[in-house]
Amino acid sequence: MSTPYLTRRSQLETYFDRTAVEAWSRLTSDAPVSKIRATVRAGRDTMRANLLGWLPADLTGLRLLDAGCGTGALAVEAARRGAAVVAIDVSPTLIGLARERLPAIPGPGSVEFRVGDMLDPWLGRFDHVVAMDSLIHYQAPDIVRALAELSLRTDGSLLFTVAPRTALLTLMHAAGKLFPKGDRAPAIVPITESGLRRRIAGERALARFAVARTQRVNSGFYLSNAIELRKTASPAIETGAAR
Ligand SMILES: C[S@@+](CC[C@H](N)C(=O)[O-])C[C@H]1O[C@@H](n2cnc3c(N)ncnc32)[C@H](O)[C@@H]1O
Repeated sequence: MSTPYLTRRSQLETYFDRTAVEAWSRLTSDAPVSKIRATVRAGRDTMRANLLGWLPADLTGLRLLDAGCGTGALAVEAARRGAAVVAIDVSPTLIGLARERLPAIPGPGSVEFRVGDMLDPWLGRFDHVVAMDSLIHYQAPDIVRALAELSLRTDGSLLFTVAPRTALLTLMHAAGKLFPKGDRAPAIVPITESGLRRRIAGERALARFAVARTQRVNSGFYLSNAIELRKTASPAIETGAAR
């Protein structure tokens, strides 16, 4: 992958593994949080449910990659529905937390947590790949390259989120730059849906995938756009579903 991708991945590892590990652990638990963070938690719950709702109800016998799984909430839900989940994150501390939190999974599903890069080809083939809020910090060309790499090992759908470019987000982004450097999260890179669609259409490796649907979740301080890329029988023709 490109140098910007590797640089950003290493910043994200530092951020999620050290700088923000306490805050992230709390946000992804039931512990009380500030009002602002409560809106983020609610938005993320909605987004997770939305992404899970785009997967088959019964995932028995299917392999699913939770790409950038954090503390593993989505992986656990997918396993409860029968999936054999590989859940990977660059942060060893978050993977440690995810392993501690892993409940018993009744039925055929399972979760294998791993530390590493979501693009590692050794993870094998998957029926579905979900990258919830794990590509939002990368530049558009790197997001599309990452999707292209993942698509080579995906037989069904690729679900991911991006940060939509809105006036408010641009403003918050600018305001974020006023905080001292050490406290700052690696910037979220806002991206327009039309720009993303253009890049996807121009990526040859994604020729057999089409944008099947999109869904925006807006809850207080959480704003994210879910996108489903679905494998088609023949090279891509957009299905033109919900925008
Ligand atoms: C905002 S968190 C979201 C975590 C989880 N998907 C969720 O929604 O709770 C983004 C996660 O992506 C991970 N991440 C970012 N780039 C990654 C990469 N290239 N490979 C694996 N994990 C990555 C980060 O370490 C972080 O845990």
